[in-house]
Amino acid sequence: MRNLVILISGRGSNMQALVRARAQEQWPARIQAVISDRADAPGLAFAAAQRIRTVVVEARAHTRASFEAALMEAIDALAADFIVLAGFMRILTPAFVARYAQRILNIHPSLLPSFPGLNTHQRALEAGVQLHGATVHFVTPRLDDGPIIAQAAVPVMATDDAGTLAARVLEAEHQLYPRALRWCVEGRLSVQNARALLTPPEPQWLIFDGNAPLV
Ligand code: GRF
Repeated sequence: MRNLVILISGRGSNMQALVRARAQEQWPARIQAVISDRADAPGLAFAAAQRIRTVVVEARAHTRASFEAALMEAIDALAADFIVLAGFMRILTPAFVARYAQRILNIHPSLLPSFPGLNTHQRALEAGVQLHGATVHFVTPRLDDGPIIAQAAVPVMATDDAGTLAARVLEAEHQLYPRALRWCVEGRLSVQNARALLTPPEPQWLIFDGNAPLV
């Protein structure tokens, strides 16, 4: 059994997708807690309704250093094997990342290394890319960097605005993140030369047309 903690800051739709997939597919994993840096994160209500422990480490009540110390204490008390960032809006320090090396996952709403940072959908539209998407990766000290575990490609439609594109990418995220986290739980991922290798190999990508994966 692997122990998972999921970190959120907001609505937590990816967290919900992970909770549902773990239950439906009966992963050999426990969700030890959903931790939020905001007491008002809407996602906390879903976790509580699922009888998952919720923990709030309120960022506003801390300095950056004391926030991370409190977060580490909470994570270590839960004996977390994997720390799953799901819309967690805090940048973690190198010391924090080093403590949990190759055990922190993140999902980012672009095809990295394109469009790290915020406002990815608007920036993708402005750049005129034809394929956009989402990336699950191991977290390293550099923002939105780190070995790529899986990617979902989402075609950009001529009629898209940032909202419609974000909605389609989010559907893809909900398919992609459970798949990637399950590989972690099953012990199928290793990192070699800064690349995430899956054993036995299978495609580490999805292509979406609307909400349905084409492949
Ligand atoms: C997602 O788009 C995720 O890729 C990004 O933040 C958003 C979180 O959404 N890191 P939700 O809270 O999971 O609904």
